[in-house]
Amino acid sequence: MANVIVVGAQWGDEGKAKITDLLSRNADYIVRYQGGSNAGHTVVVDGETYKFHLIPSGILYPNKVSVVGPGTVIDPKIIIEEFEELKNRGINVSGLKVSTQAHVTMPYHLALDQAEDRGRGTRKIGTTGRGIGPTYADKADRFGVRISDLIDPKELEEKINWLVPRKNVIMERLYSLPPLDPKKIFDEYKIYGEKLKPFVTDTSALIFGAIKNKKNILFEGAQGTLLDLDHGTYPYVTSSNPVAGGACIGAGIGPTAIDRVIGVSKSFTTRVGEGPFPTEVFGREADELRSQGTAWAEFGTTTGRPRRVGWLDIVLLRYAVRVNGLDCLALTKLDVLDNLNEINICIAYEDSVTGEKYYDLPLAAGIFKRVKPIYETVPGWKVSINNCRSRNDLPQNAQKYLDRIQQLLETPVAIVSVGHKRDHTIVIEDPIHGPKRVLQKSENR
Ligand code: GDP
Ligand code: IMO
Ligand code: MG
Repeated sequence: MANVIVVGAQWGDEGKAKITDLLSRNADYIVRYQGGSNAGHTVVVDGETYKFHLIPSGILYPNKVSVVGPGTVIDPKIIIEEFEELKNRGINVSGLKVSTQAHVTMPYHLALDQAEDRGRGTRKIGTTGRGIGPTYADKADRFGVRISDLIDPKELEEKINWLVPRKNVIMERLYSLPPLDPKKIFDEYKIYGEKLKPFVTDTSALIFGAIKNKKNILFEGAQGTLLDLDHGTYPYVTSSNPVAGGACIGAGIGPTAIDRVIGVSKSFTTRVGEGPFPTEVFGREADELRSQGTAWAEFGTTTGRPRRVGWLDIVLLRYAVRVNGLDCLALTKLDVLDNLNEINICIAYEDSVTGEKYYDLPLAAGIFKRVKPIYETVPGWKVSINNCRSRNDLPQNAQKYLDRIQQLLETPVAIVSVGHKRDHTIVIEDPIHGPKRVLQKSENR
């Protein structure tokens, strides 16, 4: 029995869904604890590609419970479309459970997200436009609509009649947007409530019962550590807490229930949206990093925007190890580096103004935006690794790349992903019962 958190260690899109899918085999419950339909999680099984936004990717396995927890924000239209599409593709969705406490993304959240980001001008965040920020803002401001309201027509009507006129003032006066019609929203959302009702329950109680019954729970993080509202590269972050600690709050369970935390990182770095990115590369160098064929080119799963690409950043990952308490790492997309002559690893930053060196992430936005990477360059392996299934199958230089990452982070790399398919995976050490973070006094810098 083990309860495990899978968390993104970078700026999202690390390949969390592929690792969740792998680990879901031994899980009984798969739980989304934060975020909403800003997430885009891709799983490729038997040549079929599934893209999840709200439903945990564990739904692909029969007889598992897939939970959308209290800390999430749910666009009902999207979750309904998602489970109807899955049903049409022959997937059994009866194991889906949706928390009464999760907040509902309303039409004004969608409209305001896009208008607010445009209104930020040069300070825009480049949000996914899925209403995430405004939904969480209303939750914190206690103007939120929860799933328990959505499935109760009387509550829903009262809330809509109270909230929509308030939002219309902001929409019209601040953003010159057309006002929304409360009646139309109620008619549409009442039907969403009816469709979702069979899945709605107190998921915290459900998970607590499962833990008591010694079931295996897998907490599937969305976004990533550097997008965390409190611990990410603020203000270029999302509005929830993807970090491992967020799993307890977002699922409604205590920290004593957690056994393991697994961080997922690409073998390089990507980012969608705005904000500083010290190891970002451009032009030919960027094309080389994206060169693994068009099918796996770096485009956002949710918005289709091209992902910015750059070298692996140990400073960011060292920070991710710290704030998540990572036990081990799953390193994805190692195959994307197959064609490179040389690979850069960012081992520290240098302040381009003061010359100061940073081994730990400088949290002040003013400093972070002006740091330059200090690289260590290692040789590539220039051979396809798609068919490698054990660490020893990997070329020497690929093994050395893993050794160096492990040494710099003082954290074991337990899983390596060498392609997008389920079996394109090397399990080096049991990620659940195996290695713990190597806590050493020495600084391997
Ligand atoms: P998530 O949001 O963290 O779940 O990641 P996404 O699904 O948004 O993006 C990861 C992309 O990389 C998807 O298209 C995956 O199919 C793909 N992928 C995952 N692991 C690997 C890998 O090891 N190699 C390659 N080439 N693609 C991978
Ligand atoms: P998954 O779960 C990558 C980014 C957006 C933007 C910022 C804020 O697939 O890893 P938001 O719409 O959340 O207010 O946008 O966060 N972002 C992601 N980037 N992967 C994601 O999810 C993301 N979800 C949000 O691009 O920069
Ligand atoms: Mg994604």
